[in-house]
Amino acid sequence: MSSTTPLLDVSGLTKHFPIKGGFPIRRTVGHVQAVDGLDFQVGEGESLGLVGESGCGKSTTGRLITRLLEPTAGKISYQGKDITHANRKQLAPVRSEIQMIFQDPYASLNPRHTVGKIIAGPMEINDINPAGGREKRVRELLEIVGLNPEHYNRFPHEFSGGQRQRIGVARALALEPKLIVADEPVSALDVSIQAQVVNLLQKVQQELGIAFVFIAHDLAVVRHFSQRVAVMYLGKIVEIADRDDLYGNPRHPYTRALLSAVPEATVDETPARERIRLQGDVPSPINPPSGCRFRTRCWKATEKCATEAPPLVQVEGNKPGHLTACHYPETADTVPAPRLSKDPEPAV
Ligand SMILES: Nc1ncnc2c1ncn2[C@@H]1O[C@H](COP(=O)(O)OP(=O)(O)OP(=O)(O)O)[C@@H](O)[C@H]1O
Ligand code: SF4
Ligand SMILES: [Mg+2]
Repeated sequence: MSSTTPLLDVSGLTKHFPIKGGFPIRRTVGHVQAVDGLDFQVGEGESLGLVGESGCGKSTTGRLITRLLEPTAGKISYQGKDITHANRKQLAPVRSEIQMIFQDPYASLNPRHTVGKIIAGPMEINDINPAGGREKRVRELLEIVGLNPEHYNRFPHEFSGGQRQRIGVARALALEPKLIVADEPVSALDVSIQAQVVNLLQKVQQELGIAFVFIAHDLAVVRHFSQRVAVMYLGKIVEIADRDDLYGNPRHPYTRALLSAVPEATVDETPARERIRLQGDVPSPINPPSGCRFRTRCWKATEKCATEAPPLVQVEGNKPGHLTACHYPETADTVPAPRLSKDPEPAV
């Protein structure tokens, strides 16, 4: 990443959702620690992958960055400007530059609106009138995402799942954003068309120079798309690195477990990995484990892991920019984890 100001700079980002209880007066009885102190940056035109199991806080992070949610603590800077608690008016110019693509292309498109109206929506809301008019721009966008511009007047139900996600991409591109947060954009699609949509996003990133935060639960998907990858577990980043460092030299036991679940065919140049079955479920983010949050499922946990939270740092053996939060990082010759689980079903 360049040494100039990053496009997006997130530090100590935290979101704790209050849990209300009690009768007749509802009080806050606890908090869901959905996101707990994230630090990361995204450079201009860069793609950062955000990966982790269900419930680890990926979507919450996406919604905080796009300011659909108000952070509990921490700081979000966009192009060097603090937007952490910016109000509607202050956010207006930024809103057009940071767009979101959602997981479900069925739910995120209004079924009663034509494709033309849906894609022109962001231009209408932001009162933007491109040269040649909105319709011309929409037709251009349809072409960019590989749809027929003549289908301008069709409705979402007339398209397939993959085509609908293309409509979502066109809508996100309407305001020429600098950053797109894509929240599991292909998870709801058939495996056979996932690659086509990923290729489209890759084309958008490379040809239009748009930066991405690409959210996925699968390390295989982001491998083809993101230059850097952050692995999340229970609201925290446990490892972040350039793609090749993360896949070739995973240092956190959780990263290693996730990687061991990636089919070998997609991890061709790395040696065969023995599959690591994680023990138990992800603990509740309402009452996360003390110290290292992964310790209840880690085969190497010691007393120190229960009392001291490991900081996210460049541990010995990591290249610059490769950070790991573990007291006992893995090495290439670490003996594969013992099979702790009796459960025949893989946990990751
Ligand atoms: N509005 C909310 N109120 C209370 N808790 C919430 C809210 N939104 C999310 N959570 C909780 O925060 C945690 C993180 O949720 P989040 O949706 O960010 O996870 P995720 O990593 O995107 O999961 P998935 O892979 O299933 O999409 C979960 O325990 C979730 O139940
Ligand atoms: S700090 Fe301890 S419990 Fe956490 S991942 Fe490392 S070895 Fe496992
Ligand atoms: Mg999610």
